[in-house]
Amino acid sequence: MKVLAINGSARENGNTAMIIDAVFDQLRKEGIETECISLAGSTIEPCKACWACGGQGNCVHRKDKFRDIFEKMKEADGILLASPVYSANISSSMQAVLERAAVVCDMNPALMRHKAGASVAALRRGGALGALDAMNHFFLNHEMFVVGSTYWNMAYGQLPGDAANDEEGMRTMRNLGQNMAYLLKKLHEEAQ
Ligand SMILES: Cc1cc2nc3c(=O)[nH]c(=O)nc-3n(C[C@H](O)[C@H](O)[C@H](O)COP(=O)(O)O)c2cc1C
Repeated sequence: MKVLAINGSARENGNTAMIIDAVFDQLRKEGIETECISLAGSTIEPCKACWACGGQGNCVHRKDKFRDIFEKMKEADGILLASPVYSANISSSMQAVLERAAVVCDMNPALMRHKAGASVAALRRGGALGALDAMNHFFLNHEMFVVGSTYWNMAYGQLPGDAANDEEGMRTMRNLGQNMAYLLKKLHEEAQ
């Protein structure tokens, strides 16, 4: 079993990476493979609304790394969407990935069916719930099961590493990782 994380931060090793790692540690303890794709330094173009992806199983535009990301999303058993809060929402890189992924999924049904999904957000002070909702909408619209924790999946911090000081936030991430591992194992058993 494998979980793919997409880190939508402009900083590869910032707070968003830290909260992904907290979730990943728990998954790895349960024998689940992990991989993280960082969008830092990459430009992901928005959806062009061409609708040419019908029957193709992926976006037809090849100028950026979206197609590789989407192939990995299709292969994964679980997807962890992770974004810093920018302007009380997800980052524009994460938005671009989700716009294109959602349209490809709409035009090619069942690509994400019965996968587990979780979203996490790093922020300085406000806007996490909107960002989490934006990411969860992708899961809920594409037949996935959304994993929860003991609080909303957010951690506070401004400078890289600050999130480590948010004890409740980091605990929430660890619980999320344990719950995601639990769900993945149940889904795997069911599929046998
Ligand atoms: C363009 C931009 C917009 C931001 N907007 C918000 C915001 O609306 N609310 C907030 O709490 N923090 C905001 N922040 C702060 C980041 O969410 C915070 O520093 C977070 O820890 C960044 O995660 P990272 O270390 O993974 O980059 C913003 C930061 C940037 C660069």
